Amino acid sequence: MSTVRTPAIDGLELDSVREIHAVLQQRLNSLIDLALTLKHVHWNVIGPNFIAIHEMLDEHVVEVRSMSDALAERLRVLGGEPIGTPQHLVSQRTWSDYPLGRAESDLHLHALDSVYSGIILDHREAIAAAEPDPVTEDLLISQTATLEFFQWLVRSHVAKMVP
Ligand SMILES: [Fe+2]
Repeated sequence: MSTVRTPAIDGLELDSVREIHAVLQQRLNSLIDLALTLKHVHWNVIGPNFIAIHEMLDEHVVEVRSMSDALAERLRVLGGEPIGTPQHLVSQRTWSDYPLGRAESDLHLHALDSVYSGIILDHREAIAAAEPDPVTEDLLISQTATLEFFQWLVRSHVAKMVP
């Protein structure tokens, strides 16, 4: 668990800071997991749209890694201690592992759509929980917009999924 080492930010109650540490760590766990999952799909997707999906997913990976870095550094700014080790991630996971290996693109796109839905719902809950700190809230809002954009890109490869 992260701990408060210094009262790093003026104007925030210590209890609020501790709650925000927990929220940031939980979102960090999810985004590290998402980046790994996106690479897994990048390697295992097959079918006629292979190259488009393969290349699109690498763009998602770069941005999601950048998002997890921003969350971890926000944790440090708030006096916390981000944990990015694989063992900690596995111990904290509350969701099932990605279900597919080598598989057709439509199967992966539907599975990825579900992955993005779960991440976006949790990010939206985190926005509400971060309300005492508008700076963290703003960071999570902007990440949610990017995640929703990525989900739209995933859905746009499957005609019947396009919103
Ligand atoms: Fe690659």
